[in-house]
Amino acid sequence: MKIILATQNQGKIRELQDLLVDEGILVLSLLDISDWVDVEETGETFADNAALKARAAVRRTGLIALADDSGLEVDALNGAPGVYSARYAGEPKDDGRNNDKLLHLLETTPDDKRTARFRCALVMATPFGKEYLTEGAVEGRILRERRGLDGFGYDPIFYLPEYERTMAELTLAEKNNISHRAQAFRKVIPILRDLGKGAMPYDPGED
Ligand code: IMP
Repeated sequence: MKIILATQNQGKIRELQDLLVDEGILVLSLLDISDWVDVEETGETFADNAALKARAAVRRTGLIALADDSGLEVDALNGAPGVYSARYAGEPKDDGRNNDKLLHLLETTPDDKRTARFRCALVMATPFGKEYLTEGAVEGRILRERRGLDGFGYDPIFYLPEYERTMAELTLAEKNNISHRAQAFRKVIPILRDLGKGAMPYDPGED
């Protein structure tokens, strides 16, 4: 079976391909489509935005399409930056400035009120008009300064109490094992498996 992941992010493509290789599922992506026009992410939730991208990809390719949308929710900021995570400090998108803005806004917030989570919504849209939503979340706390060199986005200021490290101090393998995205990706596997079974050619066997 062939599916498409509606992203141009090599890391996400590799992560999903690795999870699905044993299922005999080939993951295409927007990198395989020459004339892809980016979908405007106008949704108010991660799930809305993921659905917009998945629907566009299924319309364009006729393949089962998956799309994810993710971001950071900080409790002391009523869930901000949320769907605005990528461009929190404005255009052009800049992880460094986003982190600076967040640290500044939380300067007077005490340690026990700095709780936050990464959230991911993954929508799968089929050519037959069905849609499925899976989600993942990782709980943590926003530090007062950056720690660690790996990862991207808000990883250097996102502390995982369970691991006593920030997301940027985890190895890629560790992060891919626990991340909000990995959780959402893993939950979609049984659904894909069932769809795959449904698509098996009928074999009447011998009398
Ligand atoms: P996207 O929906 O995966 O493109 O993520 C949108 C934005 O959320 C990114 O640009 C980052 O700012 C933030 N984000 C999402 N996932 C992560 C993560 O795993 N680590 C750090 N930041 C993330």
